[in-house]
Amino acid sequence: MDLIYFEQWVLKEFGINLSAYKSNQLHRRITSLMARIGVSSVDEYIALLKKDANQRQRFLDFITINVTEFFRNPEIFDDLQKKLVSELLPFNRSLKVWSAACSIGAEPYSLGMILNEVSPNGRHNIIATDIDSTILEKAKRGEYTAPDIKNVKREYISRYFTEKGDKYLISDNIKKMVTFMKHDLILDKYDNNFDLIVCRNVVIYFNQDIKNTIYEKFSNSLKKGGLLFVGATESIYNYRDYGFEKASTFIYRKL
Ligand SMILES: C[S@@+](CC[C@H](N)C(=O)[O-])C[C@H]1O[C@@H](n2cnc3c(N)ncnc32)[C@H](O)[C@@H]1O
Repeated sequence: MDLIYFEQWVLKEFGINLSAYKSNQLHRRITSLMARIGVSSVDEYIALLKKDANQRQRFLDFITINVTEFFRNPEIFDDLQKKLVSELLPFNRSLKVWSAACSIGAEPYSLGMILNEVSPNGRHNIIATDIDSTILEKAKRGEYTAPDIKNVKREYISRYFTEKGDKYLISDNIKKMVTFMKHDLILDKYDNNFDLIVCRNVVIYFNQDIKNTIYEKFSNSLKKGGLLFVGATESIYNYRDYGFEKASTFIYRKL
């Protein structure tokens, strides 16, 4: 199967750089997706994607894998909260935070709640980005289900959500802290002067070269002393190469 040709077509058509992904894993996944849909060649699949908007969306959802939840790995969020209180907030009244690859917004809104708890008078700015514009629209609406908020403390649910039918709506004061924007971690420029960058459960899909470039760019985007918070399976073994020191298991400090 000519997946290289498919990758070139996807880059041209969707602006998504599949060669950045771990190729064996990606090829296995695309092959099994095609089998599930019932197409037997790349040409047939491209023809289907050209004419069927639903299949295009299904393909994009499949590639981007947007599984998320509030306070994913709650104990690590507790750790982050302690670091914010001990390291960043004593010196900065307003933190500039980036939630990179934020999916439906559960991650940046979790950060908003934490900041509101520990620094209610701060003027914090959370920029939340993702490659997927459909998901960003969902994030802006701020409507969640019970499974999305299963890790949220009971007192936070009553403080920061309104129940509407079987949905939970995030409160306006937390919404106001977050600005959503489309951004591709592989192809787009990075902003800088961040106090905290949170990037979890996305670089795991990328190959080592792309990961190196992303960590290098995160380091350049952070202020000295700023923190990088990664996913629970994403320890960076060569963090020194990017100018970081270890602040705790999944948090790195820019030197
Ligand atoms: C598994 S979710 C992680 C969400 C959240 N960070 C978390 O840990 O719960 C991965 C997200 O990465 C986004 N993504 C995939 N490739 C990306 C890229 N090249 N640039 C930016 N975001 C990307 C997807 O759209 C998806 O929303």
